[in-house]
Amino acid sequence: MDYTVSSKQPAQLKVDCLVVTLNKGAETLPAALPEETRALISDCVKDGDFKGSKHQTLLLQRPAGLAARRLLLVGTGSDAPLNVVAFLQLAASVAKGVASTGAKSAAWWLGNIEVKEQDGAGVLREAARAVADAGYRYDIYRGDAAPAPALKRFTFLSELPAAQAKKAVAAGTAIAAGMALAKDLGNCPPNVCHPDYLVEQAKALAAAYPALKLKTLSEKQAEKLGMGAFCSVARGSERDGQIMIFEYQGGKGDPVALVGKGITFDTGGISLKPGASMDEMKYDMCGAASVFGTVKAVCELGLPINLVAVVVAAENMPDGRASRPGDIVRTLSGQTVEILNTDAEGRLVLCDALTYVQQKYEPSAVVDIATLTGACVIALGAHAQAVYANDAELAQALLVAGDECGDRGWPMPLWDDYQEQLDSPFADMANIGGPKAGSITAACFLSRFTKEVSWAHLDIAGTAWVSGGKQKGATGRPVPMLTRYLMNLAGQ
Ligand code: BES
Ligand code: MN
Ligand code: ZN
Repeated sequence: MDYTVSSKQPAQLKVDCLVVTLNKGAETLPAALPEETRALISDCVKDGDFKGSKHQTLLLQRPAGLAARRLLLVGTGSDAPLNVVAFLQLAASVAKGVASTGAKSAAWWLGNIEVKEQDGAGVLREAARAVADAGYRYDIYRGDAAPAPALKRFTFLSELPAAQAKKAVAAGTAIAAGMALAKDLGNCPPNVCHPDYLVEQAKALAAAYPALKLKTLSEKQAEKLGMGAFCSVARGSERDGQIMIFEYQGGKGDPVALVGKGITFDTGGISLKPGASMDEMKYDMCGAASVFGTVKAVCELGLPINLVAVVVAAENMPDGRASRPGDIVRTLSGQTVEILNTDAEGRLVLCDALTYVQQKYEPSAVVDIATLTGACVIALGAHAQAVYANDAELAQALLVAGDECGDRGWPMPLWDDYQEQLDSPFADMANIGGPKAGSITAACFLSRFTKEVSWAHLDIAGTAWVSGGKQKGATGRPVPMLTRYLMNLAGQ
């Protein structure tokens, strides 16, 4: 798909489909539309065909006063400016509405749109991201895959200066491309998407961008380095664990580090999970997938920053060499861990990766991203990722970034009071903290490996995929939040 911008008046653009969104009631019609077009819309409203209700669509052929062949009206369902989350949903409806027509070219006039706490460039960027993201499909294994939509060109009509508008649309589509990569990896079945597959994907990504370098550590190399916690998880599977390290050089100074949990399937190990919905544990590598997606977006944008991005991949399986409850392992940091539950494996693979990235790169900040706990889903549901940090400024930067792009986080406590839940009689700590505050004690565990650095942890267990029936699928979150955070650091 080709995404372009234009500053033409809505009536002048010769496209197959022009989209105009209208507020609830559709009473005041935009003066930028010709008299005849407004009269046509008024008739539709008077006759009760269009009410401007939320995501209502009405398609009009050969609309009076317009060069466009069709006019698609879409209701916002509100008479006040939308917040960014509601705007993203509106943009997805616009994209779906257009895709359901036979139009080969479409344009969305943004001149009458106001979004809370967004300037014109932000509106355009998020519109482009949502429209591009709405076209995402994962149907490579389906015999009945829907044919590709007719649409080839989508134009955003904006009054911004052309260069600024182009940049905003490019940013939006770059972020959508990163989300699509994260979704593809997340949705990929776990018999295909295993640690070696992620290495192949990492090689392909690194080959696509000259600014990107890739290093990998095999399970054997990790063992030699002393990553006893990571290896204790990886050992339980026939498939070897793998660690991937992307180095992106776009600027000066210490890099920001991202670390993604990449459990390509989480059976729970010997502490086996119950069967219901276990298939969804293929999504236990969505932290890793979001690292891939963010790296891709950063490369597409060519951000002037330095970034090191680590993917720590293993399959949590109950093989003959799998960890038992009661096993004690030595982490790369030297601290020992008593494994009381082999299903709390995410923190075990992450802790060694967190130590590694600090030892090797002296990053200015470290952010890990993980589908870490079911407790996080209970606490925050599907709307916000949990944000933990040992640095209030870093937490704030991530929360603000999330708010700006509708990929929201919510701050959670990391108080010392919770730490004692991790006490073990036999090792420096246990890998679980009991039934209370499970997302917090998981974060407390990680905090013991990040004492010397500005660090944040995103628990994305509730946001990384949509559960259940037909709409099951990866969301591509938190690629928008992370990319926005890095764009803000780069002053973009
Ligand atoms: N990958 C899971 C967390 C998870 C579960 C995410 C369900 C989304 C939905 C993680 O490895 C895990 O199993 N965590 C345990 C920790 C417990 C044993 C302390 C959990 O949340 O049950
Ligand atoms: Mn688990
Ligand atoms: Zn897991």
